Amino acid sequence: MQIFSDNIDPLRAQIAQWKNDRDIIGFAPTMGNLHDGHLSLVRNLKKNGATKIIVSIFVNPRQFGPTEDFNQYPRTLKNDLELLEKEGVDLVFCPDVNLMYPSHISSEITINNPKLMNDLCGVKRPGHFNGVLLVVNKLFNILRPDIAIFGQKDYQQFILIKNMVANLFMEVNLILSPIIRENNGLALSSRNSYLSYENKMLASKIYTSLLKIKDNLCKKNSDISQSIRREIDRLNSIGFEVEYLELRTLNNLEICNEYQPGKDKYILLIASKLGRTRLIDNLIL
Ligand code: PAF
Repeated sequence: MQIFSDNIDPLRAQIAQWKNDRDIIGFAPTMGNLHDGHLSLVRNLKKNGATKIIVSIFVNPRQFGPTEDFNQYPRTLKNDLELLEKEGVDLVFCPDVNLMYPSHISSEITINNPKLMNDLCGVKRPGHFNGVLLVVNKLFNILRPDIAIFGQKDYQQFILIKNMVANLFMEVNLILSPIIRENNGLALSSRNSYLSYENKMLASKIYTSLLKIKDNLCKKNSDISQSIRREIDRLNSIGFEVEYLELRTLNNLEICNEYQPGKDKYILLIASKLGRTRLIDNLIL
């Protein structure tokens, strides 16, 4: 497994050689502290035909707000590299912050998609998605992947990246990889490590609520907003602070007040605080 961290030129030479050899380059961007969810991205890239696998590990400062957990975010590079080596990854790109954001370039580009960026998670995390799109754009330009994979847990991020790729005519195929869960239903996330044992058990109630709403939606004459309201109240009453719990269209995350399964595809999305930890999850219907 090759590891590149401080120089783009040899990395680009390696990728150019692979492209010359007609390899299909699959890419999984991460912020490290890898768990089974990340490793499933690697496996799904292979299943989707990638013949060379690149993983990036970079805790991107631009996607953290001033009061968020950038400094606290778990950094476990040595362990991450061991896991990726075992998984048969070909190349890891773990750049230094100065490589990604060179201090001698004073101007910065912003990619905007105001309506979707300021919706859902964007309400409480202003600027977060600008930071995500900026870094993903840089990573795509450096690594030129044929396929890039993103986890379904960050579904809003996926849709924003999909829109960016389409708008900027980027030559990369995007894949959405299913959420990997603990046995109790809690979606895997690096931020779960912030939770106490008790809160980790409690956090699984998020998935229980999503499943309950799904069950209700399938019943005749069910009232969506009522069943969503009931689950918000239930979660808040046991210690959560729900930021949003909403039914949206799967395609473009439009608000929907009606559930018409024959007509459209839908997704339930939730973000909630539990103690100081912010958790997100979703369920495609
Ligand atoms: O989903 C993540 O881990 C990050 O947002 C990403 C895509 C690696 C960009 O920093």
